[in-house]
Amino acid sequence: MIKSLALELSKVTEEAAIAAYPEIGKGNKEYADEMAVNAMKKVLNDLEISGEVIIGEGEIDEAPMLYIGEVVGKGGTPLDIAVDPIDGTRMVALGQDNAVSVMVFAKKDTLLKAPDMYMEKIMVDKDGRDSIDINKPLEENVISLAKAKGKEVKDLTVMTLAKPRHDKNIKTLQSMGVKVVAIPDGDVEGSVLVAIPNSGIDMFYGIGGAPEGVISAAIIKSLGGDMQAKLLTRSCAKGACETNDKESEIEIRRCKEMGIDIDSKISIDELCNTDDLVVSMTGITNGTVLKGVKKDGNYVKTETLLIIGSSKTVKVIKSTTPISK
Ligand code: FBP
Repeated sequence: MIKSLALELSKVTEEAAIAAYPEIGKGNKEYADEMAVNAMKKVLNDLEISGEVIIGEGEIDEAPMLYIGEVVGKGGTPLDIAVDPIDGTRMVALGQDNAVSVMVFAKKDTLLKAPDMYMEKIMVDKDGRDSIDINKPLEENVISLAKAKGKEVKDLTVMTLAKPRHDKNIKTLQSMGVKVVAIPDGDVEGSVLVAIPNSGIDMFYGIGGAPEGVISAAIIKSLGGDMQAKLLTRSCAKGACETNDKESEIEIRRCKEMGIDIDSKISIDELCNTDDLVVSMTGITNGTVLKGVKKDGNYVKTETLLIIGSSKTVKVIKSTTPISK
């Protein structure tokens, strides 16, 4: 069972968060990300796993570390990995709240292998299961969710990303009386808030990254909720679908190579087809769910959320680690 690797996995995101910590507020999101990736790789390559990065830092030809298809670990338990070394690189660079480091270990061949592109996502908790259809207008989804939860539409809260591409949806929801919480970045934390009972967030809707989408699916799946998604080219995500520009052509070709029909609805079971998984998320800056990294004399303190899919449990680990000289 993958859950036996939970503590080891927590070390991976802890070390990434600690490595990103000195970069908080320093204005260089790429460097912060690089530090987190390096730290992750070091811990991963010491583990007795054969972990394949199913979705991560990008495509092999962009030459990142933790690229799609990369195998990490020193050999052992075969598993699928979904990773976002920093969800909220801008928040780290600007010293803002809610940046986290996150990784999923899942049973081999269970996570969706998709290119690193945009993804439209809709997520609800277990009470909202079977009430969503990403092919229907957002208004209909909200009305259907309210019915499933036995609530009035005006008593629902929907979280989204505060991006111009969502302005129209935000206005529509607000005109229906729905409370909208629009966060600047970080939809993985949004999925945690949807999945955790009584967090006050009933639905997450938005267009964000595909890696974050697969990680969110693992979180939602573990805690019994529902999610649907669609892959989008960058031009479609921006609201003006092109098929003839070079970038869209590459994205469409990559989807074909990976066996994905870009226009089709992706179910939660296609995104993540197991509950034999563990999600580890460590706070980098302070957030709604987790406290950020804190230096305390010669020690560094971290908070990590561990979600164990097979037992549907959520644990928070508070660690104190000596600072290595
Ligand atoms: P990164 O920090 O990994 O870049 O992701 C932050 C984030 O807000 C994600 O949570 C979200 O899925 C994605 O960016 C949205 O993309 P964009 O910033 O291009 O709108």
